Amino acid sequence: MIKFNNLSQEVPYLIFKEHYDRAMNAEQKNIEVIAISSYNKEEAEVDSRFVNLKFIDHKQFIFFSNYNSPKSIAFDSHKQISALFYWPFINVQIRMKSEITKTSIEYNQEYFKNRSIAKNVLAISSNQSQEIKSYEHVIRKYNDTMDNNDLLICPDYWGGFSFTPYYFEFWEGNNSRLNKRDVYQIRDKNWEHIIIQP
Ligand SMILES: Cc1cc2nc3c(=O)[nH]c(=O)nc-3n(C[C@H](O)[C@H](O)[C@H](O)COP(=O)(O)O)c2cc1C
Repeated sequence: MIKFNNLSQEVPYLIFKEHYDRAMNAEQKNIEVIAISSYNKEEAEVDSRFVNLKFIDHKQFIFFSNYNSPKSIAFDSHKQISALFYWPFINVQIRMKSEITKTSIEYNQEYFKNRSIAKNVLAISSNQSQEIKSYEHVIRKYNDTMDNNDLLICPDYWGGFSFTPYYFEFWEGNNSRLNKRDVYQIRDKNWEHIIIQP
C-alpha cells in the first residue's frame, strides 16, 4: 500500500487517487510496486528497476534505497527519471516523468527509527548491487550487522528519494483496444490536458 499525506488537489493527483482507490477495491496485489528508469550520463546507459513506493506527500512520490547504489549514481549524473505503474486488476498504466532528489537526513532518520528491525539490518549491512563472494557472505554480513550495530540509526548511505512529476499519462485499457490515454503536463506552470491516440 501507498500512504497518502495531504495529497495535492491538482487534477492529475486526484485522477491518480481515483485509479488507486479502484485498484485497491479490486484487491490489486503489489499496488505500491513502481518501475523507476534512470539514465547514467557517464556510462551512456539507461536502466530500470522496481521499488516500493511508500508515500505520496502532497506532490512528492517517495521511495527508499541505498545512496551508493547504481540507481543513486545514475540520479546524480542525470536527475530526470521516468516512473511507471501497471495495475492489471483494473488494466491501468500510469506513466510519469520527473526530476528526482534525495529526502533530508532528518526525514530519513525519522523514517528509519520507525521501521522494522529486520528491514533496517539489511539496509545497514548491504552494499547494494556490489559484488560479493557468495550468498553465505551475504548472510554472514547480515548476522554480523544484527549483533554489532545500533539498528535504529539510519546510516548516511541509506534514505529516501523524492520525485514530483511534471508529466502524467493515464492509460486505461479497453477490451475493444480503443484504449483511453489522457496526458497531463506542466505548461507555463499549469497542467495542460491532452488526449493522445491509442
Ligand atoms: C517488487 C520489488 C520491490 C523492490 N523494492 C525496492 C525498494 O523499495 N528499494 C530498493 O532499494 N530496492 C528495491 N527492490 C530491489 C531493486 O529492484 C533493485 O534490485 C535494487 O534497488 C538495486 O538497484 P540498482 O542496482 O539499480 O541501484 C525491489 C525489487 C522488487 C522486485
